[in-house]
Amino acid sequence: MTSRRSATHTPVMLSEVLRALDVQPGGRYIDCTLGGGGHAAAILEKSSPGGQLLGIDADPLALEVARERLQYFKESALLVNENFVKMQSIAIKYDFFPVHGILLDLGLSSMQLSESGRGFSFQYDRPLDMRFSPSEKLSAADIVNTYPEAKLADILKTYGEETQGNRIAHYIVETRPIETTRELAELIEKVVGRRGKIHPATKTFQALRIAVNRELENLESTLRQALELLGYRGRLVVISYHSLEDRIVKQFMQKEAKDCICPPTTPVCVCGHTARLKIINKKVITPSETELSENPRSRSARLRAAERITVRADTFGTNDDNAFPDIDVSKGWRRPVLLQKIKMAFLTAS
Ligand SMILES: C[S@@+](CC[C@H](N)C(=O)[O-])C[C@H]1O[C@@H](n2cnc3c(N)ncnc32)[C@H](O)[C@@H]1O
Repeated sequence: MTSRRSATHTPVMLSEVLRALDVQPGGRYIDCTLGGGGHAAAILEKSSPGGQLLGIDADPLALEVARERLQYFKESALLVNENFVKMQSIAIKYDFFPVHGILLDLGLSSMQLSESGRGFSFQYDRPLDMRFSPSEKLSAADIVNTYPEAKLADILKTYGEETQGNRIAHYIVETRPIETTRELAELIEKVVGRRGKIHPATKTFQALRIAVNRELENLESTLRQALELLGYRGRLVVISYHSLEDRIVKQFMQKEAKDCICPPTTPVCVCGHTARLKIINKKVITPSETELSENPRSRSARLRAAERITVRADTFGTNDDNAFPDIDVSKGWRRPVLLQKIKMAFLTAS
């Protein structure tokens, strides 16, 4: 299938991602958020000869674009149209573990914002949909038009950090049905007014998108799976675009980089927790001035990276590694997956 698109997605912090992933020839990588395939193409290029990539995206249109972009690498790329929350089972299905690196570039691509027709942005008048995958049942219109006022307010306050969540929810319920992005954006502008450069509907749109796609729950689960799939010294790199995501990533990495997570008041460790990550960048990485001027959409990006470390010999076998016994990170790498298997799957996986 050929895609005719005017918008392309510029990969954010590309050189920083490659450095943080420490991409090496012959390495095996998972890109959980394939999008337009920009990061994936660079990973495949830098990991050649012999590099392999498992690319995942929930959006079938994104996969179509990425597939076209990665034609050149099709011998070494396996592309799967799925939610990344299923990463572990996908990796097991295709015998794609342990891996040298996992990338999550969260959020939306430029194509989704401007061309998907799914109402991610109030800049285009579209039906209120906001699903990454059309196979999901819940849409933004369902939430806006059927949820009780209190539940709606809660979503706006929790996922949008919208201080006017109660008022907005109240007026939504009074006005509904609301079918399009423009109707919703205009209603919010009427309720809260306009102050400054940022459109008053921005937080509501973020909140609805997060709720529709269960973004925070999926992120938490996926980070845990990533830890299981990384081989010794494998890298986990996450780019997030708002504080709620970034907080989850930061707290996850900090927790997994600690040997004990007992409350500070506990005199002796009772948790048995063992560090499995080493944080690579203590300070969050943000786009350079040059990137910001060339790609203003990168402005909210925050990159965090961590490296899988081996578990201590005395605790090995007593923690979560048991749940995934095929990866014994203390014993190095298993054989590489069969390239042939990937070749066959490139055009068929769904
Ligand atoms: C910012 S874009 C990625 C852009 C990509 N790195 C590139 O270089 O073109 C984020 C992508 O992640 C996908 N995505 C978001 N949440 C997802 C999820 N839970 N499962 C699978 N894909 C997801 C979106 O559909 C979108 O295509």
